[in-house]
Parts: sequence; C-alpha cells; structure tokens
Amino acid sequence: MAEEKKKDYEIKVDVKNLNFYYGKQHLLKNVNLFFKKNSVCTLLGPSGCGKSTFLRTLNRMNDYTEGARLTGEVIIDGQNIYGKSVDVVELRRNIGMVFQNPNPFPKSIFENVAFGLRIHGIKNKEFIVERVEKCLKYAGLYDEVKDKLAKPAFSLSGGQQQRLCIARAIATNPSILLMDEPTAYLDPVSTSIILDLITTFKKYYTIIIVSHNIQQAGRISDYSGFFLDGELIEFDEAGNFFLRPKDKRTENFITSRY
Ligand SMILES: Nc1ncnc2c1ncn2[C@@H]1O[C@H](COP(=O)(O)OP(=O)(O)OP(=O)(O)O)[C@@H](O)[C@H]1O
Ligand SMILES: [Mg+2]
Repeated sequence: MAEEKKKDYEIKVDVKNLNFYYGKQHLLKNVNLFFKKNSVCTLLGPSGCGKSTFLRTLNRMNDYTEGARLTGEVIIDGQNIYGKSVDVVELRRNIGMVFQNPNPFPKSIFENVAFGLRIHGIKNKEFIVERVEKCLKYAGLYDEVKDKLAKPAFSLSGGQQQRLCIARAIATNPSILLMDEPTAYLDPVSTSIILDLITTFKKYYTIIIVSHNIQQAGRISDYSGFFLDGELIEFDEAGNFFLRPKDKRTENFITSRY
C-alpha cells in the first residue's frame, strides 16, 4: 500500500478490497489503493496481470462481461460506483477513456468529438461547435484538422487518430481520464506529443494510465503501482517507486526493463 498519508479531501478515487472474478478465475485480488485529484498514476505489470481489467472496474465497463463478479468498493468523489443508486451514464460522462488502439468511430472528425455531447442530449449547435473546437485544441490536434473537420476520422494518421480519441474522451467534460497503453502503437513523435498532453492535462483531470514502458511511466507519473498476477504488489509516489522500490518483485520488474 501507499506509504503516503491518505487525506480524504485529496482523494478522487478510492479502491477498497476490490476483487474481480471471471468464472473460476480470480483476476483481481483484494486491491486497495487510491488516486489523488489532479495527479498522474501509471499502472505497470507483466502482460495478463490484470491491469486492463482493473482499469475497467473504475468505470464499470466490466458490467457487460458475462460470468464476471466483483466484490469491494470503488469510491469516486465519496460515492461507491457499485452502489444501487448510481447513474452509470453519468458515471461514464465523468470518466473519459482512451484505448491502446486508436479507435475513432466511422464518422467525421467533427462528429467523433461531438458524439458524447449528442449522446448526452445536447442539441445547441453553437455550443457543440465551440466544444468540439476547444477539445481539438486541448488535444493538440486543431491546427492539423481545422480545414477538414467533415473528413472521415480514418483519413488521419495513427497519432492524429489517437489525439482525436483523446479529444473525444474529454468532450463531455470528465474529471477522470483512464488510458490503457495510449501510446503503444504510436511513433516516437506522436508518443512524445501525447506524453506532453498528459502532463498538461493533470491540471484538469485525475489521470490513470496503464503503461508497458517504464521510462515513459517514470517521466509522467506522480504515482505508480505494480500489479502481478492480479495482486497490487506496490503503490507509491513515483520517486520512491522507481528509485527505491520496497518489494523485490517491483525492483526486478523495473530494472529488467531499463
Ligand atoms: N472477458 C474475459 N474473458 C476471459 N478472460 C479474461 C477476460 N478479461 C480478462 N481475462 C483474463 O484476465 C487476465 C488479465 O487480463 P488483462 O487484460 O486485465 O491483463 P493486462 O494486465 O491488461 O495484460 P496486457 O498487458 O497484455 O494488456 C488474463 O489472464 C485474461 O486472460
Ligand atoms: Mg491490457
């Protein structure tokens, strides 16, 4: 567990005794950790250790997985998101998600970003145009696409598509961003642009990123966690985590990849 003292007013997401099962498989094993407001936390661990599964528990994306079962609590802004009275649509509005593969919809550049706004019933055209432009600017893409907003999203490069997905993820004004290996398939220039964005974004969002790249994680993280076989082995401030890991398994993982 984190060595950091936990101050309630700074906590955005508090995960308590989280277990996740898929059929007979116990995929997440009593995970306890918390994410502070306006911080970047990276989650590391070998392939298959449960990082993506964990990320999906934070916006209830596993709800649709047949045979899945969850125990424990995920408390966001003081409310357990698995509680009975939770509005899942509002929960997802508040949590933007970006995946490993840039996955724009088969729509225009403009409509990709407008999508979430339309889903949430916003009809005011001016508001939508303004918001789409703003999000494209925030995602560092506007100048490259401003003259072709009606063109298909698929006409963009991979790095541009991923920034479009970021613009789409922030369109509904979320306060949390989940990113599952967002730069895995990008060239070094696109990767660098997105890492810079993440650093800027923490002023506005609480950011939780799954990464396979230890150098990148070290560069952008305020906090980091290491998963192994569904268990959270270590979670700490990035300085401690990367330079003075307490668990031998964390150290082995970090050093073998450097
Ligand atoms: N829908 C599912 N059906 C069956 N098994 C699943 C499902 N989702 C996840 N698993 C299993 O859960 C375990 C954790 O998977 P998960 O995708 O969370 O790992 P990961 O740490 O994200 O791996 P990677 O680094 O390769 O993305 C794996 O053993 C996987 O096979
Ligand atoms: Mg994964």
